Amino acid sequence: MSSRFSELSYSDAPRINVVPPGPKSKELLDAQNAYESSVVSYPKGMPMAIKRAKGATIEDMDGNRYIDFFGGAGVMAVGHGHPEVLKAAHEAIDQYTHTLDIPTEIRLNMVKTLRELLPKELSRVFFGGPTGSDAVEQAIKLARFNTGRHEVIAFHGAYHGMTGVALALTTDYSHRKGMEPLQPGIRFIPYDYKYRNPFGDPVETSDLRAADYLEMVLENSHSGYGKPAAVIMESVQGEGGTIIPSKRFMQRVREITKKHDVLLICDEIQAGLGRTGKMFAFEHYGEDFVPDIITMSKALGGVGFPISAIAYREELNTWPAGASIGTFRGNMVAFAAGAAALRFMKDNKVPEYAAELGAKMLKELKKLETETKIVGEARGIGLMFGVEIVRDQKTKEPAGDLAKKVRKYAHQRGVMIEVGGHHGNVARLLPPLIISEELAMKGVEIIGEVIKDIEKEL
Ligand SMILES: Cc1ncc(COP(=O)(O)O)c(C=O)c1O
Repeated sequence: MSSRFSELSYSDAPRINVVPPGPKSKELLDAQNAYESSVVSYPKGMPMAIKRAKGATIEDMDGNRYIDFFGGAGVMAVGHGHPEVLKAAHEAIDQYTHTLDIPTEIRLNMVKTLRELLPKELSRVFFGGPTGSDAVEQAIKLARFNTGRHEVIAFHGAYHGMTGVALALTTDYSHRKGMEPLQPGIRFIPYDYKYRNPFGDPVETSDLRAADYLEMVLENSHSGYGKPAAVIMESVQGEGGTIIPSKRFMQRVREITKKHDVLLICDEIQAGLGRTGKMFAFEHYGEDFVPDIITMSKALGGVGFPISAIAYREELNTWPAGASIGTFRGNMVAFAAGAAALRFMKDNKVPEYAAELGAKMLKELKKLETETKIVGEARGIGLMFGVEIVRDQKTKEPAGDLAKKVRKYAHQRGVMIEVGGHHGNVARLLPPLIISEELAMKGVEIIGEVIKDIEKEL
């Protein structure tokens, strides 16, 4: 019996005809290596060239078909080539494609669709540029404009993008190396990362210690911190290794920022738009938890069209016309596709489906904590998972090399995943939210087999 949404994907994935990269993929990879920048990265971990994709499945040039647990780094919420989304995109492309920020019906439809989903407090939206990094730049700019303050607090393990301010807010040294000094006035504090609790406290209270730390730096005049314009945080840390903060940690951060008149920005670029089982990840933290500004991108463009936005409170809507500009502030095809995708998600209760399916997948992944010795923790929320690979469950020594092996072997068996984490040792799964239960459970089974095989090799 086929499960929900199964018609959206290829039914015969995974199907490996030749160990990737096969000869046709290799031809394209060789050409890429010859002409593109040495900085190209994803094909190094998953050597393949793509021919086509459908739903939660991808076909490479040699006819191998993969279960896509990578989802274009979290972009493909409604899957590759979603028919309703493509229809909307095709209609838009024949009408008009670029209008800067001059209104169109397509643009208005996107704004209205978003407003139906957003809490009423986040009454204003701004499309400041095509990428997630652009949205982060705009969020900080708006916070600085409104507060007249410059400093910003972010969190250990944060990933906010690769451009000026967004890069300065990103902690991974491999991205910062050679770029420093980055912007002054940006400081980092601990996130609620229970598995690697930095406080030495019992793990039950480590979330409160992390929140206390924020309060301390704001209240202690000897902390060395000035009063910041904003605190920026991922509602669930993504590239940092799928780190899911506790509700009370997030609520304390909200309370503290309010008390100190500091704006709270929730970066929803990866965790937002259904990924965690709710339309916005911050909704997990209670009805009264509303950030001052949120950032959105990735799934916002429907099937990978580039677009980003911020949504913010009415009282922050003080900047004059033209205070922030840019050429690509709203691509019409992306707007049409994005609105169609959001509507599909809402009408088909896709976030609810992601929550239900995610719980089943997590139950299986959690078994690996006892069935193997190299899974330190398997965690997840909705369809956003992290499997932390360690050399030793007791010492928790991170095993980045083994996590990369998980990616390599999984790819060879027809499952695509990502690797991230504070120590680069977390196998990350971000499947399209419309993945069928059959494909999802098959993919999880393969990941389990791969991890067990890697353990045997040790
Ligand atoms: C939470 C978060 N913020 C910002 C970004 C940056 O988005 P982009 O790569 O589109 O610039 C990402 C990308 O992975 C992200 O996960």
